[in-house]
Amino acid sequence: MPCQSDIELKKLVEEAKKFTQYGKVADYIPELGKANPNDLSIAINYPDGRCFSAGDIEKKISLQSISKVISLALVLMDRGKDYVFERVGMEPTGDPFNSIAKLETTAPAKPLNPMINAGALVVTHMIQGENVEERFKRLLKFIQDLSGDTTVAYSENVARSEFETAFLNRALCYFLKQHGIIKEDVEQLLDLYTKQCAIEMNCLDLARMGIVFAMDGVDPQSGKQIMPVDVARICKTFMVTCGMYNASGEFAIKIGIPAKSGVSGGIMGAVPGKFGIGIFGPALDEKGNSIAGIKLLEFLSKKYQLSMF
Ligand code: DON
Repeated sequence: MPCQSDIELKKLVEEAKKFTQYGKVADYIPELGKANPNDLSIAINYPDGRCFSAGDIEKKISLQSISKVISLALVLMDRGKDYVFERVGMEPTGDPFNSIAKLETTAPAKPLNPMINAGALVVTHMIQGENVEERFKRLLKFIQDLSGDTTVAYSENVARSEFETAFLNRALCYFLKQHGIIKEDVEQLLDLYTKQCAIEMNCLDLARMGIVFAMDGVDPQSGKQIMPVDVARICKTFMVTCGMYNASGEFAIKIGIPAKSGVSGGIMGAVPGKFGIGIFGPALDEKGNSIAGIKLLEFLSKKYQLSMF
């Protein structure tokens, strides 16, 4: 079923777009700096296949931190809860996504949660497979299953751009290696992690992935259980407590939807039992979340009473 452009959504997008001027595109990954800060688009996907949209929903966005929820789901399935949570915690940090501070002040030095970079690097380290290529293929296949789109791939330019400049992530990895949490070669792990973050898709695919989380792990189109209910529940909980980093509390109060953002300006939302949301708005606020994307979700949540609380 094609995605229908929707007049009500268009109005909300126009209203929210006014806020793009207060944001800035991420440029610490040079390739992301090329995005147009005025872009804003949204797709909403319902369990019966209906889809409503506004803006250019065909534009490809790299997942960046949105991939962290997906890699978490995969390692929970690969290794089980006990193994995973021995190596990464369950608590929000209140610090920026790339902060190193808490690693040194908590003992053992395991990252506080899988949504901050330190935690996500440990999660990627846990993806099973013989080598980087096989581990990446497994993750990509899982993402293709979630989005129902077998053409989803990664951008070599975005991956390379991050790999060449990821000095802070390298520092996090070396710290974690010193403390025995990461065991593999750091360059190899960064190769896998930067490819993971560079996986690209459009808003529609993002909304399709969101709906699988919203429907407790079931793809409503095929009826297939793509991940166990428990894994979907854990992921949604992290989306609420840490999905928007140190803005997660305010986001939960104002919007109340499990969501995950990325520095590319993408947001994947999962309204439990109702629908999946994909948003693209590359101008970011100071915490690294799409500034107009958050406004758009705020308008939507108010208008249609979407808060789960
Ligand atoms: O590791 C990084 O810094 C990026 N690949 C992902 C960070 C990110 O998306 C944070 N999001 N808001």
